[in-house]
Amino acid sequence: MTIASRLVIDYRNATDVAVGEHGVSAADIDSVKDLVASEHERIVREHAEGIQRWQDLPDNTELADEIAAFAAEARETYTDFILIGIGGSSLGAIATIMALTHPYRNWLPAERRNGPRIFILDNPDPEKVAATLDTVNLETTLVNVISKSRQTAETAANFLGVRDALIKAVGEEQARKQIVATTDPESGLLRQLSNEEGYRTFPVPPGVDGRQTVLSAVGLIPAALAGIDIHQLLAGAAAMRERASSPDVRENPAYLLAALAVLADTKHDKAMLVTMPYADALFGISDWFRQLWAESLGKKLSVDNEVVFAGQTPIKALGAIDQHSQIQLYTEGPNDKLIQLISVASYRDSVSIPTPPASVPELSYFEGGELGQLLDRERLATAWALTKAERPNLTITVPTIDAAIIGEFFYLLQLQTVMAGALYRVNPFGQPGVEAGKNATYALMGRSGYEDLKDELLSTPDNADAYLNRP
Ligand code: PA5
Repeated sequence: MTIASRLVIDYRNATDVAVGEHGVSAADIDSVKDLVASEHERIVREHAEGIQRWQDLPDNTELADEIAAFAAEARETYTDFILIGIGGSSLGAIATIMALTHPYRNWLPAERRNGPRIFILDNPDPEKVAATLDTVNLETTLVNVISKSRQTAETAANFLGVRDALIKAVGEEQARKQIVATTDPESGLLRQLSNEEGYRTFPVPPGVDGRQTVLSAVGLIPAALAGIDIHQLLAGAAAMRERASSPDVRENPAYLLAALAVLADTKHDKAMLVTMPYADALFGISDWFRQLWAESLGKKLSVDNEVVFAGQTPIKALGAIDQHSQIQLYTEGPNDKLIQLISVASYRDSVSIPTPPASVPELSYFEGGELGQLLDRERLATAWALTKAERPNLTITVPTIDAAIIGEFFYLLQLQTVMAGALYRVNPFGQPGVEAGKNATYALMGRSGYEDLKDELLSTPDNADAYLNRP
């Protein structure tokens, strides 16, 4: 299935023409033109060598067929679905489901839901886990445990708890049938357990970081369980891949967004990047992108091993709610942000604003109005106010919210991030800072092999006190 890209990017308000010295100039963009072109060649070359394999995910229609068939049966069989995973193993699914399903899906009657209720266990928060187990019907619950590294403490602990509850409810043999594992095809603790217990498994593609797996089984299984057309998701991503294949920074939307963000940071001191959709459904995309941008670009060392402390802090915001919260800061506080607004040309629903009573003439301006029109005009008004205050901003417009557009977003923002890494001269893959925290957690939990790290951690009196005073 081949479709065309439909996203529109308007970056005029991010330029010097609109916001003076705070904006990126044509000369700034020219200054990275050659670097972008040569980095494009490197990305293409690395892809040919099997390194940038995330780019192949939109082609995996065979896997999508298998997942769609599995999900079609599971949607009939199960009333509840628990996803256990964290970070890149849950944020993509959350973003997809938030964008493409009814906002109150879990509360809808089964016949209007098109699949089981969905519960996400990412944090090992005892109150949330207990509440989830208290809410689902374990006899008819499908559990999908997702871990690329196969050993993340939060996921492992949540899974052991849910597995135990499932066994108590339905017995060991039946529990195994209700568990699906998405993990490394060959190695790791979760793979080993899956093999021993006979879970159905799907692969996390090797050579792809967790935050790039949304278009693999990691994101596609929960999406298909929610009744989303996953083939359209992939088709949208492929459409963006096609559109974003030019080496020219002005032609390639992903490279253009990367250049604008990095130039705004490095040449105009915009150390923060705000993503602010004007649609509740797209808030999950901001959250997913926040992780992608932060983990990929926040790096101490450059590719040449110099200490650079690179990165731009990603912030999520939601229009119009944040107009009554963060916008005051964005408009009058430090001018240290590039703000990417996301607008929706046509919302999926239309709610007209009824004629106000004659007794309140102050509201007569609503006459003939509609909520989507109000929300979009608020977006326009915000872009205008930001620009007037010389705050650089750009707008990405989607015609409407559908699976193909969400696929486009996923591909666009991933390629933007990879090129931003190249412009910062850092490796956008890997997350040594995350791994350091994971290892410290293993040490504090007494995992074998981490004894030295535990001694080091407990060598400061504060840490030792905190550790000892917690049961
Ligand atoms: O992008 C990444 O690789 C990380 O954010 C991981 O997704 C996250 O730490 C969870 O790891 P895992 O899927 O290995 O359990």
